[in-house]
Amino acid sequence: MTRIATQRTPAALETSGAAAVRRDIVAGLTRAQKSLPCSYFYDARGSALFEEICLQPEYYPTRVETAILVAHAPEIAARTAPGSILVELGSGSSRKTELLLEALPALAAYAPIDVSASALDEACTRLAARFPALRLLPTVGDFTDPLALPAALAKRPRLGFFPGSTIGNFAPDEACALLGSLARTLGAGSRLVVGVDLVKDPGHLVAAYNDAAGVTALFNLNLLVRLNREMGATFEVARFAHSAVYNEHEQRIEMYLVSLDDQSVEITGRDIRFAKGERIHTENSYKYTVAQFQALASRAGWHGHQVWTDPDNLFSVHELGPA
Ligand code: SAH
Ligand code: AVI
Repeated sequence: MTRIATQRTPAALETSGAAAVRRDIVAGLTRAQKSLPCSYFYDARGSALFEEICLQPEYYPTRVETAILVAHAPEIAARTAPGSILVELGSGSSRKTELLLEALPALAAYAPIDVSASALDEACTRLAARFPALRLLPTVGDFTDPLALPAALAKRPRLGFFPGSTIGNFAPDEACALLGSLARTLGAGSRLVVGVDLVKDPGHLVAAYNDAAGVTALFNLNLLVRLNREMGATFEVARFAHSAVYNEHEQRIEMYLVSLDDQSVEITGRDIRFAKGERIHTENSYKYTVAQFQALASRAGWHGHQVWTDPDNLFSVHELGPA
């Protein structure tokens, strides 16, 4: 059976951090530009919808990053010392991780961290069956909180893995701070493999966040379903619509939930008013050039060792390490 350690979990409303989470959500909804934090997408339904997004023809990042990892996992494995720990941020289904695990037979442990207990649980159950000798150390938690790796494994070499372009969900300064703190947590001599989506034609980007089957729309709207269930909010989900736009100046996709009417919604005893057309900002997804991301990583204290891209230059995987 999989043992799941529980750290303080700000993004899971059911836990002891719930009061702080409620304050964050209400604060976001009462600002001039209403917003919700994108880590709230990932309850069980949100995680399942994300997996479905990954199968949509328009959402190229998963397909393309997987192909890059298939081609280069052996190289990554060859540079990884036997007895290392693989630490993954935002592991989700751990499908990409399986490609590394197949190539890395001598790992001491795999330590995935994710806010989604259901995603971690499903992934670890599958990995335990597939790799019975592998020690699994899952943590339900927010990877922006200080990370504590298991003391028993303190002296082991570490390989960090941060795929999916989840780093793109942070503004560049926040991404730099996160990569810097990850360098300190993983420790001197560690390496980090990080997936980063690339700048491209805006039409291509907008389609990836507005798939024809409407799965990304359901993923976005599920935030309101979650708030109704977990915080007793009174959102009428059908009176909001999904929107994804590309902000060329900021190099980011912005996702919003747009109010279709003048309406008001109650949450924790407060009345939140929406004008017709008013938007709740729910996610940023920053895009980089290879050079921009290498510069950001180097500001965070990492040295770029390898970068792989696909032939169409849609996505990049960076292997970072000590200078
Ligand atoms: N790595 C997978 C999943 C990417 S989706 C892939 O490449 O396909 C982003 C994942 O990060 C989700 O599983 C989500 O639950 C998790 N996540 C998002 N924000 C997080 C945070 N602040 N702390 C921990 N996990 C987070
Ligand atoms: C997890 N993250 C990198 C995804 C992205 O592309 O920004 C989440 C997502 N949002 C809409 N579609 C996918």
